[in-house]
Amino acid sequence: MDSPSRSGVFQASTDARLEAFAESISFDKRLYRQDIRGSIAHARMLQANGLISESDLSAIVDTLQQIETEIEAGDFPIRLELEDIHMHIESVLIDRIGDVGRKLHTARSRNDQVSTDARMWVRESIDQVDALLLELQRSFLGRCEADMDVILPAYTHLQRAQPVLAPHYWLAYVEKFQRDRDRLADCRRRVNQSPLGVAAVAGTTLPIDRQMTANALDFEGVTANSLDTSSDRDFILESAFVLSLVASHLSGWAEEWILWSTVEFNFIKMPQQFCTGSSIMPQKVNPDTLELTRGKSARVMGNLQTLMLLVKNLPLAYNRDLQEDKPPLFDSFDTIIAMLELAIPIVAGSQLQRQAIAARIEEGYLDATTLMEWLIKKGMPQRTAHHAVGAIVGQAMEAGVPLADLSLQAMQQHAAEIDESIFESLGTANAVAAFTSYGSTAPDQVRQQVTSWSERLK
Ligand code: ARG
Repeated sequence: MDSPSRSGVFQASTDARLEAFAESISFDKRLYRQDIRGSIAHARMLQANGLISESDLSAIVDTLQQIETEIEAGDFPIRLELEDIHMHIESVLIDRIGDVGRKLHTARSRNDQVSTDARMWVRESIDQVDALLLELQRSFLGRCEADMDVILPAYTHLQRAQPVLAPHYWLAYVEKFQRDRDRLADCRRRVNQSPLGVAAVAGTTLPIDRQMTANALDFEGVTANSLDTSSDRDFILESAFVLSLVASHLSGWAEEWILWSTVEFNFIKMPQQFCTGSSIMPQKVNPDTLELTRGKSARVMGNLQTLMLLVKNLPLAYNRDLQEDKPPLFDSFDTIIAMLELAIPIVAGSQLQRQAIAARIEEGYLDATTLMEWLIKKGMPQRTAHHAVGAIVGQAMEAGVPLADLSLQAMQQHAAEIDESIFESLGTANAVAAFTSYGSTAPDQVRQQVTSWSERLK
């Protein structure tokens, strides 16, 4: 059988190879709920504007609801010649109620239909990702009270830099995921505009009410230019971009915790239910979940590239290329959701290796900058203090001791200003306590941030 989209103008039927090449039902099937909801809103609007009768409307609505129940039950025969989810549902409708079903597509095209379905799908998926990001933020925040006593090295260039409180690390991720949530919310505003009623490309001569369908489908407004709307996939690209940033944040975190769970670092132990073993080495407890989080993030970023390239040369307005937007779109959301569902319990359930961390926290001269700033407070120019402390650190390295174990005289050789009170600033605990600036790892600052995030994420 031929596609119902082939009008009387065709004299040859579709080549089977084209049917297989052009179908999208294999992946757009998952839009069935949005498609039926959109069709019901559209039918109600047609009836309210005298384009179909009340009895037409009730036959259409009842049958669409039946079809939805059947699809939900897995009872949905796929026929490649029907191309996509839109044609599948419409053709079942026509099979069942004949001419009345043939009225549903009045003042509508698959071009505005697919955009409507996709916008509703993206909107729901954004909400799902947002809820998971919130849970992940809560996992990080939930660790803060209990980990307040732990000092970790902060790194730059992956070299030990300065000491920070463990909750300062946790809140760093809370901040990143908050920006992702803010971006999602902003993107959602542009997703949430109704394209329904722009029809194929230029609008329609029939008396429709676009505001009515927009309201029924919970859109915030209606799009203003039919040519733009028919071609517009910005909302898909934008969400794919936001998800790429989420992926980047998750991937960076995963990399960090993979390192932290090595024997070399030994900072953290992940819950065993999220680790895997080796088929040959009996001692192995591998962080595969985090490795796959890092690995799958590449897919999400690749999807963004696919989408960028897909649209970049398209003249206005709808082009069939746009059908290729769905596999990368779906894959990005599916992948991010799966990654978040695992990150949430891993973050909440991992154990800091307190003893191992403490045993080496005085290595790496994390307090060197504190000593330099102590000298600056005594009036020494920064460059001079930087140089002097470098020399002091060099001496400590040679002796193989931390700064706090050097004698006062040894330090005074490089900076005469140093006195006994310096020992109140040396050592990582003193160094952390010495911080004061806003946004720093000063214990007061971190506690304030924990309180304010607890309020915000309630
Ligand atoms: N399956 C199509 C897509 O996803 C629906 C729109 C088809 N429109 C058309 N004019 N052939 O883009």
